[in-house]
Amino acid sequence: MTERKATALSCANIAFIKYWGRKDHDWRLPLNTSISMNLDNATTTTTVIFDPTLKADQLLIEDTETTPKAALRVTEHLNRIRKLADTYLWARVVSRNSFPMGAGIASSASAFAALTVAACAALDLDLPERELTILARLGSGSACRSIPAGFVEWHAADTSEESFAEQIAPPDHWDLCDLIAIVQTEHKVVDSSKGHELVDPSPFAAARLAAATRGLSVIRKALMARDFVAFGEEVEQEAIRMHAVAMTSQPSVLYWSPETVRILQAVRTWRAAGLPAYCTIDAGANVHVLCESEHAPTLKRQLHTLYGVRDVILNRPGPATRLIDEHLA
Ligand code: DP6
Repeated sequence: MTERKATALSCANIAFIKYWGRKDHDWRLPLNTSISMNLDNATTTTTVIFDPTLKADQLLIEDTETTPKAALRVTEHLNRIRKLADTYLWARVVSRNSFPMGAGIASSASAFAALTVAACAALDLDLPERELTILARLGSGSACRSIPAGFVEWHAADTSEESFAEQIAPPDHWDLCDLIAIVQTEHKVVDSSKGHELVDPSPFAAARLAAATRGLSVIRKALMARDFVAFGEEVEQEAIRMHAVAMTSQPSVLYWSPETVRILQAVRTWRAAGLPAYCTIDAGANVHVLCESEHAPTLKRQLHTLYGVRDVILNRPGPATRLIDEHLA
């Protein structure tokens, strides 16, 4: 038997209504429906090789062996795919990111989306997009939103079969830019997987859930109408609501650094002076600054002037996770 190999390229995504908290942790069923955009310049490339000579799975990220915990999560995900394809072959997985890992850019989203698509292709499993999103979700919740192209909604549901992601608008629907201001490249202290488990004790959890549910229709409507102000106001509120829950979880999770707050304040000052931009923040200190493309060059320049901003990555709405011909191994 020969080796079977495929490579996939996947975009990370930024959520406008966040996935924060789950109703079922094992099945990764989220408390609420979320909406996101794929990021064309924050990508993961993953090659999966099912090899009959291997005695265990191997995982290399950025040419380095990973922690046993990360390797186990990948093996568990490959087990789901092996079961569907009815094979026992072990795999070598080689993955590279175009951005720093574990720093509030959703590396697990692009990682598990690319892993799912590459592994399924290597094993000749031809699944419809909806099934791919469900499978990716079992590896990492936000990964389901990186499978379709452009602007994507992930449905909260009581069963795994109904909690899938689908496109709500293609990438060319809106020339929205996400400037990621990088202020931290180290791994975050509490990863998002853990953060989801700490939501319940927050006294704000129920209020945030109700507000996120109301915010969902506001965001969907503003996105479809390309109403940047209505959209941005709600996106920034939702990010603050998510972090209010994290900060009041038990134990409390504080992802922000002084640089995070500096950017939040600067963007508010610039906005008051007439530059339309809004912020959102995932589970880390880096800030995603959203604007329409005409304002991106000015905003990028201004972000670079702020103390502590190490880099700014400009992203536009990105494509679906796709197979490519270049292999990493
Ligand atoms: C803050 O998808 O990383 O980025 O399902 O445990 O892998 P797991 O969690 P993950 O959580 C992402 C949380 C977030 C918000 C979001 O992307 O919606």
